[in-house]
Parts: sequence; structure tokens; C-alpha cells
Amino acid sequence: MEKFVIRGGKPLHGDVYISGAKNAAVALVAATILCDEPCVLENVPEISDITKCLKILKEMGAKVELLDRHTIKIDTAGITNPSVPYELARTMRASCYFLGTLLGRFHEAFVPMPGGCDLGDRPIDQHLKAFRALGATDDIVNGNNHVRAEKLSGNQIYFDFVTVGATMNAIFASVKASGLTIIENAAKEPHIVDLANFLNSMGADIRGAGTDVIKVRGVEYLKGVTYATIPDQIEAGTYMVAAAATGGDVNICNVIPKHLESISAKLRKCGVNVVESDESVHVWVDGPLMKTSLKTMPHPGFPTDMQPQFSTLLTLADGTSIVTDDIFDNRFRYVGELRRMGADISVDGKVAVIQGVGKLHGAPVVATDLRAGAAMVIAGLAADGVTEIDNIEYIERGYEAIDEKFRKLGADIQRVYRPDADSVAMSG
Ligand code: EPU
Repeated sequence: MEKFVIRGGKPLHGDVYISGAKNAAVALVAATILCDEPCVLENVPEISDITKCLKILKEMGAKVELLDRHTIKIDTAGITNPSVPYELARTMRASCYFLGTLLGRFHEAFVPMPGGCDLGDRPIDQHLKAFRALGATDDIVNGNNHVRAEKLSGNQIYFDFVTVGATMNAIFASVKASGLTIIENAAKEPHIVDLANFLNSMGADIRGAGTDVIKVRGVEYLKGVTYATIPDQIEAGTYMVAAAATGGDVNICNVIPKHLESISAKLRKCGVNVVESDESVHVWVDGPLMKTSLKTMPHPGFPTDMQPQFSTLLTLADGTSIVTDDIFDNRFRYVGELRRMGADISVDGKVAVIQGVGKLHGAPVVATDLRAGAAMVIAGLAADGVTEIDNIEYIERGYEAIDEKFRKLGADIQRVYRPDADSVAMSG
């Protein structure tokens, strides 16, 4: 086990290059199961969630070849059994994407039920609702979700609320179903659009991705393609907030600025300068940080995956900010850790009241989940003194080479081996 040791208080300066999006790449990797020929995926982030997804494919019989650090050739022709191995899948939420892709290809799937999770209970009732609408039945067999259909037929699917995972799974299961599927109240996240673009480049017929009505007309054959994953909106947002929290001046490169608008808008409210170019955003601070309030929302609203990082920034601002995050049950678990660094935050259910304290102070802290871990890194970079962060395997699920990237921006962050540690990171 390893931990990060950060000597904080240094403004970040320079250019940082953003990797491919985790939440797009996990869906694209799963989608290769639906492709009738080998595919090459480019700009795949080098993170542990992707390593796990690729291991799942390999254990099921796929050929996976790393052409370089970020380019992977995947041939899923060798998969014959639609069962996902328990040990690999149980700690990864995105393993539920195999339900939709295996159902779409084999008309049957066995996928271990996701266990309890660091963000609270995460049911899949809407995923199952979509599969049932297309003609599938479901039950639990040996701790696995089992879905099965004689035939998948297009239908109307109306989600009770906006859900990224169920929208992805509805697309997976309908892309080769017969006839037209209409997905209403669909999620509009950039990774939904990326999945639709990937499948359309193979020959699928998916329209409306990025709006709340997606129409999928089933096709019989999907051809192999080479496709590049979009840049990671949340990784970019994390570096934007880190630049602001340290009073720095950073160019965040290889991004789609449109995907960052909700984050840029909130940073400007706090008095941070954000200037967008074609494929980069320049973030710098030349005055005091100001309070702002925010509520997380599905895209294009402010993303829940940026809430812990932004709340950390608000601990450094003048005045009182109110942050509401009701997407998941339990996304304020990191607050106790920030309090150990001097933050003044009170939480009542899904609302946090943050009284700006101007400065944080280094302390030993723990990453309680992926984005909470990123928040601890930002807190450590901005704080006086030394911060030690445990459970960094959470952070490595979704951030490629985070310590290297911050070091290039002038941070003092070291990775230190910790022989006595024992931790289990559950993926989001
Ligand atoms: N929900 C249900 N029933 C369902 C599906 C969802 O009750 O059938 C609930 C969830 O429990 C949650 C809310 O609906 O309270 C939204 O869940 P959603 O399905 O949108 O989330 P997800 O697909 O499980 C993805 C990302 C998360 C991100 C959310 C929201 C992946 C692999 N994960 O999760 O990413 O927070 O969308 O944008 O794409 C992260 O990257 O740190 C992360 C947690």
C-alpha cells in the first residue's frame, strides 16, 4: 500500500494534459462486447478501473492487446459464456454495464450484484426496468443479477429519474434489438454522447444522445473501428479547482471547454479567472476567493463528481457557502477529514454549510472515495505544512498519474510505500 505525502502552500503553475474520461472509457470498453469485429480504443486513461474492466474481458475470453499506454485493441469474439467473474466485478460499479452488453449480444447475462458502496446504496431498478421494456426477465442467481430474453424488441423506456448507468444499459441492450427503442428522460452526460458516437461509428443507429430523448433503431451487425475517448471532464475540473485553491496559474490542456461550463461558471463566481480556448482552459487567481452556493445536478448542471473538490475550495473563500448534493445518499463523508485540516463545515443530510476559514493546515487524512480523495489532494496542496493521504488506491481508480501531473505543476507531492496498510477500494 502507498500513501501521498504533500508539503503544501505552493501555487501551481504551468500546463497539465488531461487524460481520457474514466466514465466514458469504462462504457466504451464494455461496448466492445457488442462489436462483431476487433476495435481499437485510443486515449484510454491508465487507471485501475480500466485495468479491472480489461481483466474482466480477458477472463471471459476476449483478446486484449495494449498497442501503447493509451491505445488498446480489443477482440471479444472469443467470449462464449455471458458470465462476469465475481472477484473482479464485485468492487466495480461499472461492471453493471456488462449486464446490458452481454444481454444485447447473448440475450442473457450473469453479473455479480454490486455490493454496498462508499456513496451509499446504489440500486439498479431503472436498469432492470429498461431491460424488461425490451422483453427481458430478471432474477437473482447465486448472488448474480441474471437477465434473459428470448428476443429483444424495441419499445419505449421512461426513466423515473435521470440515471447515467441505466441510460448506458438501455442503449447497450437496444442497439441490436429489433425495431425502434425510445429512451425518455435520458441522461445527457458527455460520456453518453461518447458511447453513442462510438456505437454509431460501428454502424449503430442512435439519435438524440445529449438530449433527454434518445432513439435507437436496432441493427444486426457492428463493424470494428478505431475510436478516441473524450477528455475527462472531472479530471479537468479537479485541476481547475486545484489551480484556484493554491492561488496558481495553470493551463488545462486537451479538454472540451463546453463540458466544463458549469465548473467554469462557479469558479468565476468565486472570483477565479477562467478563459477558454479551443482545447484548453486557463485558470488563475489574482484576488480573494469569494463564497458561492451550489447544488449538484445531472449534466449540464454542476456534477456531483466535482462536489468534494469544489467544497474544499469553498473552505478557503471569504464568507459562508451552502452546498447541496442529493444525487447520492452519502457524498459528504470526506467532511470529517477536512475538519481535521481546520475546515469549518457542518452537514445536515444532503446539505453542507461551509464557513470559509482562509487557510487549511496539513494533517494525516484518508481518501474515503475517489472524488473525496481528489479533494484531500487539493486540500493538501493548498494547506500549510504536511498532509499525508491514505487509501490512495481510491484516487488511482480514476486519476492517471495524479502525483506526476501535480509535480509538473510545481507541487511537492511524493508517493510513499506504507507497509502496514490494508484497504479495499470500491469503484464508482
Ligand atoms: N439510481 C437508482 N436506481 C437505478 C439507477 C440509479 O436509484 O436503477 C440512483 C443512484 O443510486 C443515484 C442516482 O440514481 O442516487 C444517480 O445514479 P446514476 O445511475 O446516474 O449514477 P451511476 O451510473 O451509478 C455514474 C458515474 C458516477 C457519477 C454518476 C452521476 C460511472 C461509472 N459512474 O454513476 O461516477 O457520480 O454517474 O453522474 O459512470 C465517479 O466517477 O466518481 C462516480 C461516482
